[in-house]
Amino acid sequence: MINVDLSQTGLKALDQEIDVTKVKQIHEMIFKKTGAGADFLGWLDWPKTYDQKEYALMKEVSRTLAKKIDYLVVIGIGGSYLGTRAADEMIRGLHPVNGVNLIYAGNTISSTFTAQLKEFLKDKKYGICVVSKSGTTTEPGIAFRVFEQELVTQVGEQKAKELIIAVTDKSKGALKQLADNKGYQTFTIPDDIGGRFSVLTPVGIFPLMVAGINTDEIMQGALQALNDLTAPDLTNSAYQYAVARNLLLNQGYKTEALVNYEMQMQMVGEWWKQLFGESEGKDGKSLLPSAMIYSTDLHSLGQWVQEGSRGIMFETVIKIAQPNVDLKIPTDADNLDGLNYLKEKTFHEVNQTALTGVVDAHVNNGKMPNIILEFEKMDGFMFGYLVYWFERAVAMSGYLLGVNPFNQPGVEIYKHNMFKLLGKPGVK
Ligand code: PA5
Repeated sequence: MINVDLSQTGLKALDQEIDVTKVKQIHEMIFKKTGAGADFLGWLDWPKTYDQKEYALMKEVSRTLAKKIDYLVVIGIGGSYLGTRAADEMIRGLHPVNGVNLIYAGNTISSTFTAQLKEFLKDKKYGICVVSKSGTTTEPGIAFRVFEQELVTQVGEQKAKELIIAVTDKSKGALKQLADNKGYQTFTIPDDIGGRFSVLTPVGIFPLMVAGINTDEIMQGALQALNDLTAPDLTNSAYQYAVARNLLLNQGYKTEALVNYEMQMQMVGEWWKQLFGESEGKDGKSLLPSAMIYSTDLHSLGQWVQEGSRGIMFETVIKIAQPNVDLKIPTDADNLDGLNYLKEKTFHEVNQTALTGVVDAHVNNGKMPNIILEFEKMDGFMFGYLVYWFERAVAMSGYLLGVNPFNQPGVEIYKHNMFKLLGKPGVK
């Protein structure tokens, strides 16, 4: 389902670049749960071990909820919303015409954004899915206050109860307590799955079910990836990618740009940035994960990519074989724009040709290594597959780097400063 093409990286065959024993040792460390952060490996078998009873209940609750609303406000930040949005956009596209619309709040402290969304929802039929593992995160916490109060004003306390769902820890945290006190339905984020690894848990699955997305396909895709990635060596495609990016880092490259040619993959890029950035950005080492959408970014950053500073960035290009929908380029009798030479082609053919030309220009003229990841399509199955595939890749990559890929101590420092400045009780 994902083929890794390293022919444009300048790397030799991987087994000539790295001692495969190292990869095997890390594979064993992951599966025997002996490495740093092993308490957070719940995602490793999740496509096989997820709670079927809770999954069935989510289906039932989501069906009932979806009949009552046109919009679901998904309130969460970081790992509590990025994967959901990535899935929704990748599978349904940017302008879905069927099902409940998902809109996102609590991922910003912007008053303008929040107030404008509140105004937009005034006369809409909506529900709320508030997602927070800790249950104490400021951004979703204050946004939830706003939208919960607004919904109660709109439909009354009793009806609001049927429209609000919380996804949080099974017993700890303010959100769990609040939801239980107010009688909101809750679903559980497992203790041993960190935020950025949680999209296949109720965090992502519940809102996606409400949207009408076939989540069974997502879980099947993840299971397929789990079954495909059993090899402990360099025949494992996720490890090929992990090793290649690690070798490029060791050559001095500082940034990896994930390049997509599909607009609906933009949030997959954002999800991937968190997965790799939060997992590896430790101890003063690691690649900066960035993301671009071509061809649009070729008209802004393209000049830099082609001729700017060399030796600091490489590209990882996602090449998608099948578009969800293809579109013919229309013919025009007058041909005033001179584009009739494209008239037998489709947009997808031109997009694929652009990719081939760009890779050639960047690699051969621009001396910019390109890893190419070949995906078949953009559907639920593929989303589940890529999530599990990148999760396995980041586990290997993080351990190759020598960091704990499953913690995020650095994100606490700004929070402490902010709480101190805001006068949070108990914070000095
Ligand atoms: O990956 C992570 O751990 C973070 O991005 C969290 O998901 C994010 O900070 C939100 O945390 P919480 O779900 O506890 O509100």
